[in-house]
Amino acid sequence: MKRYCIIGYPVRYSLSPKFYNAAFKKAGIRARYVKEEVRPTDLAKFMRGFRKKYSGASVTMPHKIAIVRYLDAISPDAQKIGAVNVILNKKRKLTGFNTDAFGAIQALKRSGVKNLRRKRATVLGAGGAARAIIYGLKKAGVLVTVLNRTPAHAKKLGREFKCRCGILKDFDAANCDILINATSVGMGNFGVSPLPDFLPRKRIMVMDIITRPRITKLLRAARSAGCRIITGEKMFLAQAERAFKIWTGRKISPIISSEIPIP
Ligand code: ATR
Repeated sequence: MKRYCIIGYPVRYSLSPKFYNAAFKKAGIRARYVKEEVRPTDLAKFMRGFRKKYSGASVTMPHKIAIVRYLDAISPDAQKIGAVNVILNKKRKLTGFNTDAFGAIQALKRSGVKNLRRKRATVLGAGGAARAIIYGLKKAGVLVTVLNRTPAHAKKLGREFKCRCGILKDFDAANCDILINATSVGMGNFGVSPLPDFLPRKRIMVMDIITRPRITKLLRAARSAGCRIITGEKMFLAQAERAFKIWTGRKISPIISSEIPIP
């Protein structure tokens, strides 16, 4: 039986095992997917034992960037993004992929954003998830602004991906068509928002990559102002479809994915 895992810290709230185990079962694949809660200081040690134990993995916060150095090869997209969220172990050779950029763009498209070119997007956050989303948006011709708590992190992304940057307080609703939260603020917590003073304008499309809770405080504020919202499970599902294909060569059928509980 093949084994897969999610590597993160914390991961105890992750429902990825439930999702992928159901997907494997439906596809008739003998495989098991488990949680691996790995502290940043234990990542090197964990990766030394990984090759023997696992056929693949999902990588989540805060390891998406740090994991790169433990892999043997990186896909061109993951290389450009500088972050990995999927690992494939093929004959003991570890290859890193990034399915987040695809996931984010698909989530927007599947939610009715047909033409991304020249749209103005503000991305909150400058971690591994933000890097992938910014890369995907830039590739699709979107005009991107990145805002982050730590200005130096936003500046680095601004230079690398050639986009405007600033701190969270710089958010300007008047110059924004799409707002995406790629920080961890609001995860497992209904009460906090990366933009506590957010005054949504109706025409802004607001997306959160957080899956728990489904409706974050940011999305709640947006919804009550009449904005269109995109919940985190849309991106989760699209990136998971790619991950499943990388590991198994198989598709998660739309019927299967609609039946499986999404994190
Ligand atoms: P991921 O790989 O999922 O993107 P990450 O690399 O740990 O995770 O990045 C987390 C992001 O959330 C960062 O942009 C971080 O901001 P800093 O660069 O200032 O650390 C942001 N973040 C985390 N906690 C935050 C908080 N309490 N307020 C504002 N931003 C926060």
